[in-house]
Amino acid sequence: MKRRTFLAATAAGGAALAMPALKSQSQMRLESGQAFEPLSLLDATGGELQLEAQTGQTAFAGGAPSPTKGFNGAYLGPVIRMRRGGTIAARVSNRTSDPVSCHWHGLNVPSKADGGAHQSIIAPDATWFPELPIDQPAATLWYHTHVHGRVAPDIHAGLAGAIIVEDEQSDALDLPSRYGVDDLTLILQDKSFDGDGRPVYDPDMMGVMHGMVGDTVLANGQLAPEARVPAGLVRLRLINACTGALLRISGAEFAVIATDQGLLSKPHSIREVAISPGERVEIVTDLSDATAADLKVSAGPASGMGGMMSGGGMMDGMGMGRGGRNSRQQTLIRLAPDLGLASSGPLPGTLTAFEPPENIPNETSRTFHLAAQMGPGMMVRRLFGAQTMTINGESFNPDRIDFTAKAGAIERWRVTGAMMGHPFHVHGAKFLIADPQRPEEMGWKDTAMINGARDLIVKIEARSEDQIPFMYHCHILEHEDAGMMGQFLVA
Ligand code: C2O
Ligand code: CU
Ligand code: CU
Repeated sequence: MKRRTFLAATAAGGAALAMPALKSQSQMRLESGQAFEPLSLLDATGGELQLEAQTGQTAFAGGAPSPTKGFNGAYLGPVIRMRRGGTIAARVSNRTSDPVSCHWHGLNVPSKADGGAHQSIIAPDATWFPELPIDQPAATLWYHTHVHGRVAPDIHAGLAGAIIVEDEQSDALDLPSRYGVDDLTLILQDKSFDGDGRPVYDPDMMGVMHGMVGDTVLANGQLAPEARVPAGLVRLRLINACTGALLRISGAEFAVIATDQGLLSKPHSIREVAISPGERVEIVTDLSDATAADLKVSAGPASGMGGMMSGGGMMDGMGMGRGGRNSRQQTLIRLAPDLGLASSGPLPGTLTAFEPPENIPNETSRTFHLAAQMGPGMMVRRLFGAQTMTINGESFNPDRIDFTAKAGAIERWRVTGAMMGHPFHVHGAKFLIADPQRPEEMGWKDTAMINGARDLIVKIEARSEDQIPFMYHCHILEHEDAGMMGQFLVA
């Protein structure tokens, strides 16, 4: 097996993105090229599911062991397999000494089971028992902690996992679906390391403003692992679990087959996918020529604000489409074909029969303006710990319900952002982007990169129970923690 090494970033490299100063000057070499280890698979198709939030120690890429958090393990959580139809009785326990929660991102379940609301916080040593009715198309979803004010550090520490929903339609398609063989789930997180190879996460005011971007991107905590795969089609389920980084993945020819909420109507060939925090995309690459493929990744601020600190001036990071300048490319994963492994059939030309909703309103139903409170006042408020990120001029307040929507309604939401980009996410609903620019923006979504103004055709999918609200927010987790979140009821 080929072993490659990457130089850990130096303080100078990090400075371009306003990273905190790294404590040690020693340039530790991070190890890469280890055999890919699939995350453990937890089968919930029998109707039961148990998760336990834990603390532990993880050594990333041969670095020093450092404190991390995970579900049913030290870092990240198992990949949960679910099936459309039926209900899962879940129990989520908190064995850490801080509050956690478990939001099923992309799963359209009643608010009481959604895990995003203040009411669903799990105190240390407590257990939460949500009932999850699974009634949506096959998709790659994820779950993560959602305690307002500490979402970014806790997801960065590892409180996140993946969900694979299957249904009859996905069964009928001959897509690569052997878990860990030709169907790989990759939870992507960026990290900056100190001189001993310990991840550092310590955003200052500018880090909150821009969203943090680390200098290394890990797949399930591994740096540039090598996966032995069949010499045929390989499917990658990519989940952006970064706090503030937009990821661009390239290096091979592939087809996008699914976005946030499931399969597209047909595969779209593409050479680069861009994924903002919270988004998922499924790609299929063809290795039938039996040569290895190195998928590459680069990370840049999803806010598009990287240029501000690198001497280019504030406007520099704008107008760059889905984000600002990206870091140097690195290998994300090496796919090494093994002729001994059987491969699946050719990629189907049609995946799903997509039917757009009827009665799409032409008029805007609601508007959402995402903005940072700029200027010297913001610095003062930050010093006193006040929230500074807003939607329609207001920071998150768990006691305020921003609106009530009707179950099953189709609405047109206009979402705008001032000065920077924001990945906008909504719970309990799915939407179509009215003006998709790239395959990653097609199909039903739950998270969309907003640069300027965009219209979303939103279908309210789930209901509120016990007056517990659903959240909508920016998925730059530093922005969310700083107040860029609101909540709504579905009646
Ligand atoms: Cu991925 Cu409100 O969350
Ligand atoms: Cu969510
Ligand atoms: Cu934002």
